[in-house]
Amino acid sequence: MPVHMTKNIGILTSGGDCPGLNAAIRGIGKAAQGAFGMHVEGFRDGFRGLMENRTIVLDREALSGILTVGGTILGTSRDKPYRMLIGGKEMDVTDAIIANYEKHHLDVLVCLGGGGTQKNALYLKEKGLNVITLPKTIDNDVAMTDVTFGFDTALEIATEAIDRLHSTAHSHHRIVVVEIMGHRAGWLTLAAGIAGGADVILIPEIPYEVEKVAKAIRDRSRSGRQFSIVAVAEGATSKQEAAAYEVAELKRQKAKTKEERKKAKAALADWEARHEGNTLRLARELEVLTRLESRVTILGYVQRGGAPSAVDRLLATRLGTACAELIHEEQFGVMVAARGDSTEAVPLEKVAGKRRTVPRDHPWIQSARLVGTALGD
Ligand code: F6P
Repeated sequence: MPVHMTKNIGILTSGGDCPGLNAAIRGIGKAAQGAFGMHVEGFRDGFRGLMENRTIVLDREALSGILTVGGTILGTSRDKPYRMLIGGKEMDVTDAIIANYEKHHLDVLVCLGGGGTQKNALYLKEKGLNVITLPKTIDNDVAMTDVTFGFDTALEIATEAIDRLHSTAHSHHRIVVVEIMGHRAGWLTLAAGIAGGADVILIPEIPYEVEKVAKAIRDRSRSGRQFSIVAVAEGATSKQEAAAYEVAELKRQKAKTKEERKKAKAALADWEARHEGNTLRLARELEVLTRLESRVTILGYVQRGGAPSAVDRLLATRLGTACAELIHEEQFGVMVAARGDSTEAVPLEKVAGKRRTVPRDHPWIQSARLVGTALGD
């Protein structure tokens, strides 16, 4: 480990981008330099930039004016240290990453990311590096933190979209099925669905029956409301498809031979491919079952773009400055979690490989049911 007095911090952003990343980089950087006299540099494009030694100095000038800017000034990628695609081949680049960490005399590597990044960070910790992570993602699915930055901004965007879809669905007496991101977690869809007053909310944690969704829409029609908004999470599935997934996943876990593993992986890939058109299929089925015209809106990457909300700027700054304090105290191997108005250092072992999904008895679900929203179950 280095013997210098000034601490050297390396920062990278990894996984899908989200609003608030620059606010977090600024929070870490300004506190580290201003309050603790540390040297801060960034690595471009996630673990790939660290492996390729592509850096950017994060001095006062670089950190100025980025609080409100969307995306990440560092660039990002979904690359993993132990399996990176190089020249069409998957390679383990851990040694190159460790060599660059040492070359820059880093005291710590700060990784800003979601679930995948937490795993990669733990992997590097186990290889002997000092790491600290911050939880970011619009999906809000990182374990052991109250919330992730990026979520609030995406929630605002998705809610505004639902508001706008309401008026056109109303004018045309249509069903509008709006697909919302969130990977395998329903937080964003549930929250935006409640805030936007969706009539049906479908999330991965509660597999649905199409006939029940159709019935909820027909009931609305009968009571004079000839339009409906269906907020569907990209990971939501019917009960039937959820059962098929479970069978395939169980086979993968139980596979003993290479052949069995290959077969099980292929079955899961088939399932994923089938799932891709799920929202369009659902809209068509609802049209047949309700005889109401249906339209689909896939919000997609709009939810990840643009300036962070005030809530995300505040959260990212709080987590960033707390991160600098932890580095000053030499507390490594942790994620800086949001806990109420404060923060908490959580060991990476408790975070990595875990996903925070919506519990079926979560108060938001109860609220949705109490205002008469159908959840398809
Ligand atoms: O994790 C954020 C997220 O936007 C998910 O909601 C979505 O499933 C995924 O990333 C999309 O990933 P990519 O940017 O690799 O297409």
